[in-house]
This record gives sequence, structure tokens and C-alpha cells, in this order.
Amino acid sequence: MCGIVGAAASRNIVPLLIEGLSRLEYRGYDSCGLAVHHEGSLVRSRSTSRVTDLRATVTEAGLGAFTGIAHTRWATHGAPVTANAHPHFSPTESQARIAVVHNGIIENHDELRLTLQQAGYHFSSQTDTEVVAHLIDHLYTDDLLEAVRQAVASLKGTYAIAVLSSTEPHRVIGARFGSPLVIGVGAQEHFLASDAMALAGVTDRIVYLHDGDLVDIQPGRHWVIDADGREVERPVLTVQAHSGAAELGPYRHFMQKEIFEQPRSVSDTLEGVEAIVPELFGDTAWRVFQAIDSVLIVACGTSYYAGLVARYWIELLAGLPVRVEIASEYRYNPSVPDPSTLVVAISQSGETADTLAAVRHAQRLGMTHSLAICNVATSALVRETQLSYITRAGIEIGVASTKAFTTQLTALYLLALSLAKVHGRQNDEQLNAHRQALRHLPAQISAVLALEPQIIGWAEQFARKENALFLGRGLHYPIALEGALKLKEISYVHAEAYPAGELKHGPLALVTSAMPVVTVAPNDALIEKLKSNLQEVRARDGQLYVFTDEDTLIAPSAGVHVIRLPGHYGLLSPIPHAVALQLLAYHTAVARGTDVDRPRNLAKSVTVE
Ligand code: M6R
Repeated sequence: MCGIVGAAASRNIVPLLIEGLSRLEYRGYDSCGLAVHHEGSLVRSRSTSRVTDLRATVTEAGLGAFTGIAHTRWATHGAPVTANAHPHFSPTESQARIAVVHNGIIENHDELRLTLQQAGYHFSSQTDTEVVAHLIDHLYTDDLLEAVRQAVASLKGTYAIAVLSSTEPHRVIGARFGSPLVIGVGAQEHFLASDAMALAGVTDRIVYLHDGDLVDIQPGRHWVIDADGREVERPVLTVQAHSGAAELGPYRHFMQKEIFEQPRSVSDTLEGVEAIVPELFGDTAWRVFQAIDSVLIVACGTSYYAGLVARYWIELLAGLPVRVEIASEYRYNPSVPDPSTLVVAISQSGETADTLAAVRHAQRLGMTHSLAICNVATSALVRETQLSYITRAGIEIGVASTKAFTTQLTALYLLALSLAKVHGRQNDEQLNAHRQALRHLPAQISAVLALEPQIIGWAEQFARKENALFLGRGLHYPIALEGALKLKEISYVHAEAYPAGELKHGPLALVTSAMPVVTVAPNDALIEKLKSNLQEVRARDGQLYVFTDEDTLIAPSAGVHVIRLPGHYGLLSPIPHAVALQLLAYHTAVARGTDVDRPRNLAKSVTVE
């Protein structure tokens, strides 16, 4: 998604802006650009290519400046062409007084555009952002902060913006509402960024802005004004630098690296779990868990599938009813609020706009007991929920979620066990046995990773297909969904997942000898039922690719390919099976030659609705 970097310093900030943009590249973008004060005027450079090309252009031009703003754009309003790339200027390129970069969506841009056109402004892009640039210019007299304050009062929607004025070369003004923006505090220099990660290596002293905040950064100071117009002090936090994490090492892609990091990230997520106690989720968790009698899970994409697995675990182990809602739908659907529900939001980034909006909606409905399962401790989601469990996946660069998913599942299993403890459904001996099972997970994942050569053999066959079906039952249906999502998002092979019993209610019509049917088939309570479903596929000549565990009797035969995962994993078996499906998707994508880490049209962190 879009990314912002801004700087006000007493040294050349152009390399810092470019470096910041390159740190945000993994989030996905289709154009990039920057604007700086250069020899008394605003100068910009934009590209529909990669940040490296922008770097080459500005280096060749010898661009240097003390103040500037930069952006990576993921197109929403208008195609990914140079004219729509940020920064946007006002009133015109040759007489630029104002430059703006923007993340988010301005919902009333049509109405504002009309008003500004009537005031004589000419629009050179299809973006909602250009409206913001002209509006600020229209309101500007001699104080950029005041013009931005007045402009944002007219905006509807979400925004994080950074703004330059040609006549105030020492300052950058920022504002946020619904999209993240932070200040980086350096020695006699200040920065703005949509994610603290953009500033890794520059400063680790970060101020998280609140919705409605306006900020003025200058080399020697920063100044925050809240939504009520009062000057406020926001705390300066020291955040862990991520700079070294974004290196590929011996791997071909970040996705492959992240798949192979899973034994470590699961074990890190379990670090310090000496006993199953609700306090793992926060000091007040015991009281909160006691007060609730049901659970509502909200999440998107892969995180939603983690929620579907958690429903099974929580209902089975803790005996609490669980609803799982797609976050982007939840707030628009009628629902009956229940104040004794625990709202659990699952998100790798903690910045997904739909998930944040779902949590806020639940809070407005009076459901105030909330918990985040999140990979980013400093994210908006963690800040806005009562309780949290921080997964320790480490930074995930590949757009396809891998280690974030398995660490979410690890944390959700701990949640099911903690709820079971508080609600008296599992005794200490049982809980301890579950904890021991969790301890074996890293070694079990390593054993699945060792199957990579066999999975590559399958992937070479999948690379020649245009469609695939994924089947699972019960606890493993969400894993089939996740396997299908992984395959489609990075290899562009169309894939659908079904609970295997649903086949005969429609999708069986698709099964021919050309259709690969991937099945997640561990030895659980439904294995015999699943085997009957597989017979239905074979009877239509469908090609079965079965991931199973050690003790099922599914054997390879004509049209039946079997990969046996070593061990039997009980209730935790979704985790090793998910890893096997990640490898299948990854190697299929590699064989098809796609841009694995940056699949087309997708962004890592979806910060717009
Ligand atoms: O950061 P989040 O977990 O909230 O992101 C949710 C989805 O956007 C994300 O899981 C997405 O589906 C991934 N690309 C899947 O691999």
C-alpha cells in the first residue's frame, strides 16, 4: 500500500527519503516520487518504475535538499501512471507553491473538485490527493500549518498527509486521520513516515500520532496539535530497529526465507510461556476472560482463516461459542451486540483498515472487551485494544503471509487454552500436556520443511495448470482455504477450497483428469469420511495430491499422489499442514516465474478500505 516519508534536517535528505521508500517497497506499490526544496523552489521527480530508478534519476540530476517529502503509491483513484503519482503540486507544476503526498481515501473528493474548479484550479490527475493539494493552496496565506488545519477540516474519509510549501523551506506539515503517520526524532532533524520501519537506520525514536493530530516538523523541533486544536506532547518511544531483518541471505525470495524461518518464529512466539495463564494476554486478562461468555473474531484474508481454526479450538477446548467475521463485512452487517463477548482481532500488521474499523464498530456497539493477536507491538490495533498477544514472527516482507499465519495460530492455541483454564474446562495436567505439544511444533515444522524436494516435484506439475481445488474437513477446511489463497495470490493459478463433503453439492462438476485436487488429510476423526470424498474425485478421474500424516493408510496409486508429513500432530496439525501448502504455492509461483514477493495488484498492508 501507499507509503510516506518526509524530512526536515540540516543535511541532504534526498538519500534518506529514497532509503525510506525502499524500506516501504515490500508493502506493494506501482509508482513512486519525491518533492524537495531545491534552490528556492519545489522540485519533484516521479516514476512508474521501481524506487531504484527514482534513485538513479535524482542522483543523476544531482538533487540535494534539506526538506522534502516522498511517496510510494498503490493505485486507488486513477491508473498507475506518472500523472497520478505523488507528490501532487498546486497550483501547477511550473508555479508549485504546495506539494502533497497522501495515504488513504478522500471520500468527498468529487464535491471538493467541483468547488476548486469553480475557484479556477486545473486538475492534472485523476487522484483524490490532488484535491488536497489545491485545497491547501486555496486556503494558504503565509502559514502552512494553518492552511493544512483548515483544509483537513473539510476532508471526509481517511488520510495521512505530508505537505511542503515553497515559501516555508524549513518545515514539513503532517496530518493523520484513519491512516498511520509517525514522527521520527533525530539529533537536530525530524522525519515523518507512515511506518516507523521507513526510518530504520535513521532514528529509532518514534512518536505515534493519534487520529486528528496535526504536526509541524522542523530540523530542531516538532510540534503536535490534537483534534481539539490543543498543543499536546505525545511520548517519544524507542522502537526496535528492523534494519538488518530485510536481507535475503541464502534464499531466493523473502517468502521462501519466511517459510523457513517458521521453526524459529513459532519458538520465539512461545518464548516465556512457562505456564498456561491468561496473563500471557495482559495484566487484566483473567478478569476480562472471566467476564465473557462468547468470542467474536474479526480479521481479513489469511488472518481470517487463522480465526476459523481458532473457532474450532476455542469451542472444543474452552466450550465458548465463537463467531468469526470477515472484518470488511462485519461493520456493515446487522448484528446483535453482546457486551459479554470478547472481540478478538487478528492481524499481522495491526494497520489493516477493515480490521481496525471492525474493532471500533464493535466498541461503539458496547463490546469493550477486546484482544489483538498481532505481529507489530506498536500498531494501531494493539494500541486500541484492551489486551494483546504479540506474535514474534519478525518482520514479514513477502506479501503472502506465511510465518505470520503460523505464529497467529500458535498464539490462538494459547488463547483457547487460557480461556479453557478460566472457564474450568481443562485442568492443569491437561493444560501442561497441550503446552508440551506446542513445544514440539518447531521441530515438527522443520521436518515438514525437509519435504521441500518432494513438494517441488508437485509444484512443477501445478505450474502447468490453470485451476486447482483444495479440500479439507473440520479443523483442516480453513487450511485448505489458506492453501488455495496462497496458490492464487502468488502463482495466479485459480484455486478454490471446499469442505470435502460439499464436493457433491456442486464443485464435483469441475472434476476431470485435468483438475488437480489438493487434499489436507491428517488422521483425525473425519479421515474415513474424507477418504470417501476422495473416492468420489477418483471416480471422475480427478488427480489427487494428498498431504497426510504418518498413521493414515492413504497410499499412492494411479492418480493419487501422497506426501506423508512425519508425525501425527493432534489438534495442532493445521500448523504443519499449512507449511506444506505454503511450499507448494511458493514453488508453483517460482516455476511460473511470477514476482513472488510482490504479486501483481496486491499490497502487504491494506491500510485503505
Ligand atoms: O496484516 P493483516 O493480517 O491484517 O492482513 C490481512 C490480509 O490482508 C492478509 O492476510 C492477506 O490476505 C495476505 N496477503 C495473505 O497472504
